[in-house]
Amino acid sequence: MQEVHTFCPDCQSPLLASYDLKQVKARVDRDEISRRRKGMWRWHELLPIQNPDNIVFLGEGDTPLLRVPNLGKELGLSNLYVKDESANPTGSFKARGLAAAVSRARELGIEKVIIPTAGNAGGAMAAYAARANIRATIYMPKDTPRANVEESRMAGAQVILIDGLISDAAGMAGEKARAEGWFDLSTFKEPYRAEGKKVMGYELAEAFDWTLPDVIVYPTGGGTGLVGMWKAFAELEELGWLEDTKRPRMVAVQAAGCAPVIKAFHEGAAFCDFWLNAHTLASGLRVPKSFADALILENLRESQGTAVAVRDEDILEAQSQLGRREGIFAAPEGAATLAALRILIENKWIASNERVVLFNTGSGLKYLA
Ligand SMILES: Cc1ncc(COP(=O)(O)O)c(C=O)c1O
Repeated sequence: MQEVHTFCPDCQSPLLASYDLKQVKARVDRDEISRRRKGMWRWHELLPIQNPDNIVFLGEGDTPLLRVPNLGKELGLSNLYVKDESANPTGSFKARGLAAAVSRARELGIEKVIIPTAGNAGGAMAAYAARANIRATIYMPKDTPRANVEESRMAGAQVILIDGLISDAAGMAGEKARAEGWFDLSTFKEPYRAEGKKVMGYELAEAFDWTLPDVIVYPTGGGTGLVGMWKAFAELEELGWLEDTKRPRMVAVQAAGCAPVIKAFHEGAAFCDFWLNAHTLASGLRVPKSFADALILENLRESQGTAVAVRDEDILEAQSQLGRREGIFAAPEGAATLAALRILIENKWIASNERVVLFNTGSGLKYLA
């Protein structure tokens, strides 16, 4: 239990954490968790930290699930919601994953962590590492939004800006990690970021009185949230905490300028091809190939979901619509879910009374020049 894990060296694929759910069920029930102080760690029996002193908490979790009636009316949907992850520390859902990963790193006695990032994960890692007294190094593309660079430096991290994409940053961070003994917190190169992200799935189940929505629309880069939530639903089912075990159809959204998951999904492929010349203003979606591509595709298919690519101009229009209609200043990645929803409605993939949750994964404020 106190071993340092990364990923499977034989098949080069992610490792996921597992729990003795019978024991968890004997120790705690869902109502007790609902009564606890707000935040991600009220689910601690289902998270990978053994000693609570190691938890690094900055207020992550329990973000609002907002009904968006104006938008719903405009689109002809009676049950439309936005899970607004911009309320997390550092202004994005990346806080959840990095809270779990840095807490676990602290528990394992790791003293220095490194990450390649499209931006928000770096800022989140820097913040949690600062609180945990762990050294942090971050590799980012040089055109990453300025807020991500500044927030990381402000938290004391060493930031290295590179010419290239997150995939190039990953190569460089990996090299430094191997040469100098830094622990690599790249997406799915360790098991615990997905554990933090899965709590979004628990929170949805709780908010819908222990049932699940019909459709979840999620902006997918590395895919931690999508894979994490799918895992959360399986755990809730095994715990017997769901009133109705009908699972949501999961929708992966990517930008047309970088859509490896969309292409692989529609071609029926088991893995993604590396996407060449990736470009989109939604920096978090500029991931040419996820390390968890097979898992993402598997989860989408199991859920009877789908995958949708959206153009940058439609992301910008959706961002403005979210602001105008609902007062939400969404990150472009979050706004991409609304652009995708329009396509799904047009294709009659969604019925008007279905419960649909869009994920706004971050704050639009982080993208101002
Ligand atoms: C705001 C935002 N949304 C979505 C994503 C994609 O998330 P994931 O890599 O977990 O799929 C990112 C990644 O950087 C992001 O910053």
